Amino acid sequence: MSRSVRVSVPATSANLGPGFDALGLALGWYDVVEAELAENGLDVRVTGAGAGEVPLDGDHLVVRAMRGTFASLGVEVAGLRLACTNSIPHGRGLGSSAAAIVAGVLAARALAGAVDDVDAALALAAKIEGHPDNVAPCLLGGLTIAWSPSGRVRAVALDVHPDVRPVVCVPAESLSTETARGLLPASVPHAAAARNAGRAALLVEALTRRPDLLLDATEDELHQPYRAPAMPDTLTLMKDLRERGIAAVVSGAGPSVLALTIGDQYVAKVPGWEVRALPVDRRGAGTTRSDGADGHDTVAYGNQG
Ligand code: HSE
Repeated sequence: MSRSVRVSVPATSANLGPGFDALGLALGWYDVVEAELAENGLDVRVTGAGAGEVPLDGDHLVVRAMRGTFASLGVEVAGLRLACTNSIPHGRGLGSSAAAIVAGVLAARALAGAVDDVDAALALAAKIEGHPDNVAPCLLGGLTIAWSPSGRVRAVALDVHPDVRPVVCVPAESLSTETARGLLPASVPHAAAARNAGRAALLVEALTRRPDLLLDATEDELHQPYRAPAMPDTLTLMKDLRERGIAAVVSGAGPSVLALTIGDQYVAKVPGWEVRALPVDRRGAGTTRSDGADGHDTVAYGNQG
């Protein structure tokens, strides 16, 4: 077993318009978790986003993910010390939950001395999160396509065209994914599903090879219209940007907006919103383990480093 580990995990934007619960993008905005085995007890410290709001006991999401991982490995741990340095805002559709879960899964696997197994980490993280489209890019980096054959979870990572420059617009208010998912209908018109399937396929081409197709490729009829009542300002901003030719979408379950800018497109300041240009993260989550003496080793889970 290693004695301590440091895990860095990127923010992520899921759906990307038509790719509901399947497509995701890793962004260069990071949370860091440092975890250490202890003689006994649980000590959780949080600085940055969520400090003073998230629980500091066994309900902390990183702790829950670590405990689930230790249990899946059949490992018993006496005590844990955690220091979470969070930058990714909570409840804004930028994958803070996925980041916490992936950090917990990787930290526990590293502390337990488990072999690096991306598939196992992805499966457990997706199970805890309930959908795979944030945990996949968080783990692998880049643009990911996730799918679930026969109850399993798989994902591939693709390189994003260098002309695509993501910009996130983050409002002050949060919205829970649970609330946003609760607004979705049980069924949708077949024609709308068919149009979304075509756009999701086109979006992979647009993000990797033909950024000029991004505006058409990011239209969605499966989730954004149904969620509009919970985030009217988000839909207004998204529509304003799209009318300027910018491929803007609801980021994940919202309420942030993700704009995939190209060429001379830019997103001006929006009063009351944080507008932040972010690079695509191409490496995904990374861990650095220490055995307590002078041994360190570093692993990046993505395959594009
Ligand atoms: N695909 C998920 C949803 C992403 O839209 O509910 C949540 O971040």
